[in-house]
Amino acid sequence: MKPSNFEKILARVRQFSATATDVAALQEFTVRLIAEQLPQYNWVGFYMLDPEDAGMLRLGPFHGAATPHVLIPVSQGICGAAVAHEQTVVVDDVTSDPRYLACSLETRSEIVVPIRVRGKVVGEIDIDSHSPAAFKDADRGFLEEAAGVVGAYIESHSVTSRYIP
Ligand code: SME
Repeated sequence: MKPSNFEKILARVRQFSATATDVAALQEFTVRLIAEQLPQYNWVGFYMLDPEDAGMLRLGPFHGAATPHVLIPVSQGICGAAVAHEQTVVVDDVTSDPRYLACSLETRSEIVVPIRVRGKVVGEIDIDSHSPAAFKDADRGFLEEAAGVVGAYIESHSVTSRYIP
């Protein structure tokens, strides 16, 4: 069986992670590759917990329109909910979710997937789509794997990483 597009992307992210100079380089590579390969993912980015303030998410590498939400308290937004509940959050219709913080007026659905290091959430991958209900179980599985690669990279570079819990 031919590997799916998701598996091909994951293979390239894993390969890049083996020699990435730092986590930001791995994140830059990952957002660019995902945005190029999956056009229904209209905004792809990382938010990481501020090492100085565990209650605040800070925008990291992203691909897509500029967002006003550079800092998001964990008590706010879909992004905050994924950290607060320590689980993936999928929103099929952002217009009907009161937690939603608007980035683009075109966004219709969103998925936020936590990144864990030694079992603790240190950040997340956030994806927006202009299509409603764009994120199915396969997308969730794919993005949880990708988050796992980034978490494993941080864990195995604990001496140099700011994100070790
Ligand atoms: N929609 C997110 C905010 C981040 S932007 O989508 C880039 C939220 O509700 O937390």
